[in-house]
Amino acid sequence: MGLVTVTFVLSVLFIGASRAKYEPNWDSIDSRPLPEWFDQAKFGIFIHWGVFSVPSFGSEWFWWYWQHQKLKPYVDFMQRNYPPGFKYTDFAPMFTAEFFDAKEWTDIFAASGAKYIVLTTKHHEGFTLWGSKFSWNWNSVDVGPKRDLVDEMASALRSHSDLRLGLYHSLFEWFNPLYEQDAANHFSTNYFPYSKTLPELYELVVKYKPEVVWSDGDGDAPDKYWNSTGFLAWLYNESPVRDTVVTNDRWGYGSICKHGGYYTCADRYQPGHLLNHKWENCMTIDKKSWAYRRNAPLSDYMTIEELVTSLVETVSCGGNLLMNIGPRHDGKISPIFEERLRQMGQWLKVNGPAIYNTTAWRVQKDSVTPNVWYTSKLQEKSVFAILLEWPKNVTVVLNDPVVTQGHTQVELLGYGSLQWEPVKPSGLRVLLPPLSVIQVPCQWAWTVKLTGAT
Ligand SMILES: *[C@@H]1O[C@H](CO)[C@@H](O)[C@H](O)[C@H]1NC(C)=O
Ligand SMILES: *[C@@H]1O[C@H](CO)[C@@H](O)[C@H](O)[C@H]1NC(C)=O
Ligand SMILES: *[C@@H]1O[C@H](CO)[C@@H](O)[C@H](O)[C@H]1NC(C)=O
Repeated sequence: MGLVTVTFVLSVLFIGASRAKYEPNWDSIDSRPLPEWFDQAKFGIFIHWGVFSVPSFGSEWFWWYWQHQKLKPYVDFMQRNYPPGFKYTDFAPMFTAEFFDAKEWTDIFAASGAKYIVLTTKHHEGFTLWGSKFSWNWNSVDVGPKRDLVDEMASALRSHSDLRLGLYHSLFEWFNPLYEQDAANHFSTNYFPYSKTLPELYELVVKYKPEVVWSDGDGDAPDKYWNSTGFLAWLYNESPVRDTVVTNDRWGYGSICKHGGYYTCADRYQPGHLLNHKWENCMTIDKKSWAYRRNAPLSDYMTIEELVTSLVETVSCGGNLLMNIGPRHDGKISPIFEERLRQMGQWLKVNGPAIYNTTAWRVQKDSVTPNVWYTSKLQEKSVFAILLEWPKNVTVVLNDPVVTQGHTQVELLGYGSLQWEPVKPSGLRVLLPPLSVIQVPCQWAWTVKLTGAT
């Protein structure tokens, strides 16, 4: 054996050993520390896009509600607007994406202040937004746009921004006959995961190198059926994104809020207190749907005040906010979503220091004054008090910080320093300027930064 061969064998052994760190069981998978970038990022954009964006009526569960539940509004909608015998699959050629410009989407997402996106690559309908060879003739390259939408999005994101790519993928598919067969066998057979779900997941990771794998839709099947720990061990040990990838907790019946990477626990999860595990609040600007709905009235869209409130409460309690939009079938992000995204970015431009790279403080919500939430940066000895409403009085009392006269400094982000006085038994009263003189480009919540407070 020559030196080169010895070195080669040794490095293969070494790499092999160093990579086989995680084993295919939950104890081992759950012991992996979450890559730091995720907690620092705080804010991501969720995107629900697929064939359901064509009827754009009701929700992304359109197919299920129409043909399985046979809900009246869906049945009536189809009867009134489509010829008899029209099938859900007939919507696919109408998923045209002619206005889809991944660079334009990237610019809007970057302007929102988000640090990552999560795109539905395949929802429960089974249609893949990439040219998956495991989804023959039911993917966006064979039918509809005739484009690899995941590839376009991933490429634009990488060349025009520092946003990270996350991919949503549904484990199960409502009407896939292989899945139905496994379900009829009480999941004692694995035809569907071994010929569909798992090959797709490997394909997605190897091709697009996502840094979030956002799994969903276990269909009441256990993680053993999905081979979830087997896939995750590969993802963490060997995949091209093994060092930076994060995953969520939806990997089989009962795994949510318990196993995997960060916790999502429920849709629109907002515990209102600090959790001892990293979590994410996935929620949607259209309060009633994740997919675009042509029939949504303005009142169903959250206001910018409500969205900023969600972000602040979430981050204060140790979570990330994953805020969803539903693009249209033609690839446009409707102006109402675009406006909300740009408003978030305006707010974050000034108040970002109270959000990004912060850690939860020892107090989340002020113990007395309503609508005040805290975050902190311990290394800078700063505490941020975010006021969700402008106090009626010109002063606000922050009851929980411990301050020292002559040492603690107080400022309003986007404005400048403020006068203050200590109050008993603890805390401070801060004198605010008149609202009319504040030159900040946003009026939806305000940050009082305390430096040298604990
Ligand atoms: C299932 O998991 C095992 C490890 O438990 C792994 O060896 C195997 O490759 C996995 N199969 C698939 C298709 O993911
Ligand atoms: C957060 O911290 C990371 C790592 O130190 C740094 O790269 C990044 O620029 C910071 N982000 C913000 C918005 O300050
Ligand atoms: C309003 O501010 C003054 C001090 O500037 C304070 O004495 C008073 O208690 C405040 N009123 C309320 C309702 O907070």
